Amino acid sequence: MRMMFAGLLAAALSLAACNQAATTTASTSASHVQQAVFGRTPDGREIDVFTLTNAHGVEVKLMNYGAAITSLKTPDREGHFGQIVLGFDTLDPYLAGVPYFGAVVGRYGNRIARGHFTLDGHTYTLATNNAPNHLHGGDRGFDKRVWDARSFEDEKGPGVAFTYVSADGEEGYPGQLTARVTYQLGADDTLTISYEATTTKPTPVNLTNHAYFNLSGDAQRDILGEQLTINADRFTPVDDTLIPTGELKAVANTPFDFRQPTAIGARIEADDAQLKAGHGYDHNWVLNQAQPAQMTDAAELYDPQSGRVLQIRTTEPGIQFYSGNFLDGSLNGRGVTFAHRWALCLETQHFPDSPNHPNFPSTILRPGETYRSQTVLTFSTH
Ligand code: GLA
Repeated sequence: MRMMFAGLLAAALSLAACNQAATTTASTSASHVQQAVFGRTPDGREIDVFTLTNAHGVEVKLMNYGAAITSLKTPDREGHFGQIVLGFDTLDPYLAGVPYFGAVVGRYGNRIARGHFTLDGHTYTLATNNAPNHLHGGDRGFDKRVWDARSFEDEKGPGVAFTYVSADGEEGYPGQLTARVTYQLGADDTLTISYEATTTKPTPVNLTNHAYFNLSGDAQRDILGEQLTINADRFTPVDDTLIPTGELKAVANTPFDFRQPTAIGARIEADDAQLKAGHGYDHNWVLNQAQPAQMTDAAELYDPQSGRVLQIRTTEPGIQFYSGNFLDGSLNGRGVTFAHRWALCLETQHFPDSPNHPNFPSTILRPGETYRSQTVLTFSTH
């Protein structure tokens, strides 16, 4: 019995050594992309998971359900790799329904008031799936669609290009929209997300990624101690259904001033009408952008304990900072309970409800034009 135990122990140890060797090999070999089956949708469509790895061992997993990031592993300041996004290692929880974990949201990311907008004299009606408003593309937005996927590798690194053709009239939106989202992991520890779209009829478009970040590594604690910087002098205040009032309000002397690194928890419970409306932070900041569509520093998130830094640059005019206020502990993944404020989203985007605010940068795409947007995430430590 003891011998058998010793034998098992030896086998386990050699397996561990083997795993160790495999990990080491991956982290020292050149970058690559691997593809595997992740699961099937109820109607039998195959969902694949693509693993992108760079020479430093940074690893991103993407799936073609929702063109979503399912996993993102980066090192802490000691070089230990940890998971920095919420997600699952199997497809079923995603199919059962999650609040946009890692997914691309569209056709219109964020809210459209009361599910109505008027374009070229015609009023369109969309699902009010976040009563009384329309949110993230409706009942079955781009996060719940199967995208076509093609992996590639070029001199900048491994990547995956996802394409989805949204039918004319889908979720109430006009025009057939062909959307393409490309993720590429660079040797410089950047993840570049590039969006493109064309349409057959004028339509609003606002695409972003809805990853939930927790830089502690394997989501060990809530995000209130993480420090955030947002390069914005103004934000768009909202009514109590999270629709912008139309004002671009100065952040100075408010809990929305993140121009210097500030712990997310420092003011989140302040007696402030906007924080009450958002149940915390759930607002769009107006980025300090010199020229429209110019790549601009948007935000930086820093976890003082692990040393991880996430920098975000974008061509978009805005960023929605959502402090995970609706996470309520009802979902678990990878041994973690996704409790209140256990992760946060930084969604680069055009402003919420732009189709109903002529003073906001336009989100209308017309036939013959190409929608282009790019966001670059950079991972480092200090
Ligand atoms: C966005 C919204 C939030 C919430 C989340 C998903 O970030 O702004 O209010 O709906 O998506 O739960």
